[in-house]
Amino acid sequence: MNAENYPDVIRLLQNHRSVRKFINKEIAESDLEHIIRSAQAASSSSHGQSYSIIRVTDPKKRSKLSVYAGNQTHVKTCAEFLVFCADLYRLEQISLLSGVDMAESLDTTEMFLISTIDAALAAQNTAVSAEALGFGIVYTGGLRNYPYEVTQLLNLPRRVYPVFGMCIGYPEEIPEKKPRLPLKAFYFENEYKRIEDTSLHIRKYDEVMKQYYLNRTEGSRSETWTETQTMKRKSSRRLFMKSFLKEQGFLLR
Ligand SMILES: Cc1cc2nc3c(=O)[nH]c(=O)nc-3n(C[C@H](O)[C@H](O)[C@H](O)COP(=O)(O)O)c2cc1C
Repeated sequence: MNAENYPDVIRLLQNHRSVRKFINKEIAESDLEHIIRSAQAASSSSHGQSYSIIRVTDPKKRSKLSVYAGNQTHVKTCAEFLVFCADLYRLEQISLLSGVDMAESLDTTEMFLISTIDAALAAQNTAVSAEALGFGIVYTGGLRNYPYEVTQLLNLPRRVYPVFGMCIGYPEEIPEKKPRLPLKAFYFENEYKRIEDTSLHIRKYDEVMKQYYLNRTEGSRSETWTETQTMKRKSSRRLFMKSFLKEQGFLLR
């Protein structure tokens, strides 16, 4: 199905690809402000706006973050690097100022979810508005390799944690679009479809992804989506996240 006759935003969304190479060119402050205002326009649970965004302009901090993220050089070379934080600190502080202690509520898994979802929605609005202005973006979940160090570097208080970063900049190269699962594998009507009904579609997609990797790597990488995901997810990663989050005041109840 072609999105050609659909509004620009539909085409923009369906044209997304992560950009990991940027040219050395600044983003105008006015563009950045529009991007951040668009981030802010995202829905947020109960209008709590339980997230904060940290723009990292200090080159030393950028270098450190790039290393923490697993030596992702684009964290250093992109025009703007934003860290999206789930933030329950602000709510806690305003309630304390008005004499209400809501610690018990903020301790809950539900509030962890709310703040994380709020941060993610603001981030995706950031991505879409940046792409609408012609910039490229890539998320940087790699920051969670070193959550304690990132927290210290950015001076995050208790009840705030870095969910991920995002690089924004003028793209140096536009990679090929990464194929997605067929609709029948994940988009269901009225009830969940178990693997017996979806495996055929997933197998077809496996072949599409294999071809995609073959093209992208000029034949050196040939993997199905199932193989990539199985390899990536079979061993547990970042087991420190649970204790880190608890120390930061999340997931306590
Ligand atoms: C939460 C999140 C974290 C991510 N972290 C990284 C990262 O650390 N480094 C990276 O190169 N890409 C990262 N990505 C980008 C994904 O790899 C990418 O979106 C996915 O492979 C699909 O490719 P596409 O965005 O080009 O369509 C992240 C994406 C998300 C949503």
